[in-house]
Order: sequence, then structure tokens, then C-alpha cells
Amino acid sequence: MSEKRVKVWDLPTRLFHWLLVATLIFQYASAEIFDNAIQWHFYSGYFCLGLILFRIVWGLVGSYYARFSQFIVTPQHAIAYMRAKNTKHYLGHNPAGAYSVILLLSLVLTQAVTGLFISDDIFSNGPYYDVLPKAWEDAANFIHHRGFNIILAAVALHIGAIAYYKIKHKQNLLSAMISGYKSVNHAPVSPHEQKPVNASTNWFLFIICIAISAVTVYLIVDVFAPIPEDDYYDY
Ligand code: HEM
Ligand code: HEM
Repeated sequence: MSEKRVKVWDLPTRLFHWLLVATLIFQYASAEIFDNAIQWHFYSGYFCLGLILFRIVWGLVGSYYARFSQFIVTPQHAIAYMRAKNTKHYLGHNPAGAYSVILLLSLVLTQAVTGLFISDDIFSNGPYYDVLPKAWEDAANFIHHRGFNIILAAVALHIGAIAYYKIKHKQNLLSAMISGYKSVNHAPVSPHEQKPVNASTNWFLFIICIAISAVTVYLIVDVFAPIPEDDYYDY
């Protein structure tokens, strides 16, 4: 079969992915390594929240392979895919990958949201600190402090799966997430990928999606958040 290169991941999806990776590294460093960086932890946490909101909206209106409707399948379908010996090639996320995408997005979203409700118990409070009943606030605190380890475990699995596809199935998923292109040179390809679609970005929609996520974060962090009694230390 002659090799054909298909644009699968549009620039917004790739930018989202690598910015998410960079932001999570910064989130860890600003909480655990750098001194007095909690303010930057907050700012970058809001950015991270914006990234996830962007990906959710882009998953509805983005280019073909970025859409949730293109890659989300029933759990039965995903299990059947994992049991199959002769794994079919997918141009977008494969059925197992689709669930790991949902898992990673949900974990990071939970981490960002719980951060809004907690405090470092020194000077800095998230914008919704003191809003929840004490038991809920403790739960948010617990989840935020433990949650990052769960994200790390999921990321280890994610990277392990990518290495597995490279070694076992000779699929280079990483280069596609960098360049945007996949080669269609292996048979069999999954049935709905028989006619590959080239992913092209609608730049107008891209700007609208950025605006929607940025305004939503602004509303959450600045407009809807209660005014703190002493707002000097709240960011
Ligand atoms: C996805 C985004 C985020 C990630 C990955 C993240 C990650 C972390 C990590 C790894 C810690 C250290 C936990 C520990 O010491 O065991 C931490 C602490 C903390 N985070 Fe976040 N965070 C995020 C978003 C936020 C947001 C949006 C806020 C508030 C607006 C926030 C507020 C805090 C506070 C107050 C602490 C406690 C710091 C301390 O006790 O010294 N985080 N976060
Ligand atoms: C903080 C760490 C990471 C997180 C939270 C993360 C999260 C994600 C998410 C949410 C997606 C889905 C992309 C989308 O459809 O928008 C994805 C895909 C992908 N990620 Fe990561 N990722 C991380 C690190 C990495 C690293 C270090 C690599 C490189 C080895 C990598 C390689 C990939 C690849 C190749 C895909 C596409 C998988 C496919 O073809 O189905 N990721 N990642």
C-alpha cells in the first residue's frame, strides 16, 4: 500500500496538548519547588482551567479528528478493541485512547476546580475559599493535595501506552502530536477511517473558542467569585 500523509491533529489541538504539559509542570514546580510562587501557581492554574474549557469547546466545534463525536465510543466497543489481537489503525484517537483522553481531561479539570476552593493556610486563598461548608472545603483540599499523584499515574500510563503502540504496533503517535500528520500505510485501517479526512482549522472558530474559554475563566475567577473580607492577599 502506498504511503499517504493525512493531517490529523490541527494546530489548536497540538498547542493545547503541549501547553497543557508545560502548565502542569509549572503547576507542580510553583507549588512544590519554587519559593513564594503561590501567586504564579494561581495564575497558571486559571490558565490551565482555560485550556481545559477550550478543549471542551474545541471538542464540539473543532476539526474532524478533534471532535468528541468522532472518537468517543461505547465502553463495549473500547473493550472489544483492546481484546482484538489485530489492532486496527485509527487516524484519530483509538477507542482505548479516547477513554484516556476523557480521564486526563477530567483529572486536570478536577485539580483546577478544587484549587479555587482552597488556601495555602498562609496568605493566599483561592477565589472561592470559605464559600463551601467546612467538610466540603476539606474534601477539596484533600483532593487537590492528593490529586496530582493520580494525574502523575494517569500520565505515566498515557506515556506507557504511547510507547507500547510504537514498539508493539509500530505506530508513531508522538510524531503525529508534534507535526499533526499521520501516515496511512498500514492495513487494516478501521472501517470509518477508510476515507481519511484532512483536518483543517477554522481560524474564526478557533478565536471564538479562545474568547469563550477566556471570558468563562474571567467570570469564574473575577466576576462571580465572592468579594473577600480582606482582598489584599487574594488573587
Ligand atoms: C490543574 C491545575 C493545578 C494543578 C496541577 C495544581 C497542582 C498543585 C500541587 C501539585 C500542589 C501541591 C500539593 C501538595 O503539597 O501536596 C498544589 C497546591 C496548592 N494549589 Fe494547586 N494546582 C492547580 C490549580 C490550582 C488553582 C487554580 C488554585 C487556586 C486558585 C490552586 C491553589 C493551590 C493552593 C492554595 C495549594 C496549597 C499550597 C500550599 O499548601 O502550600 N491550585 N497544587
Ligand atoms: C502532563 C502530561 C500530559 C498530559 C496531561 C497529557 C494529556 C493528553 C491529552 C488530554 C491528550 C488528548 C489530546 C486531545 O485530543 O486534545 C493527549 C494525547 C496525546 N499525548 Fe499527551 N499528555 C501528557 C504528556 C504527554 C507526553 C510527555 C507525551 C509524549 C510522549 C504525550 C504524547 C501524546 C500523544 C502522542 C497523544 C495522541 C495520542 C493518540 O494518538 O491518540 N503526552 N495527551
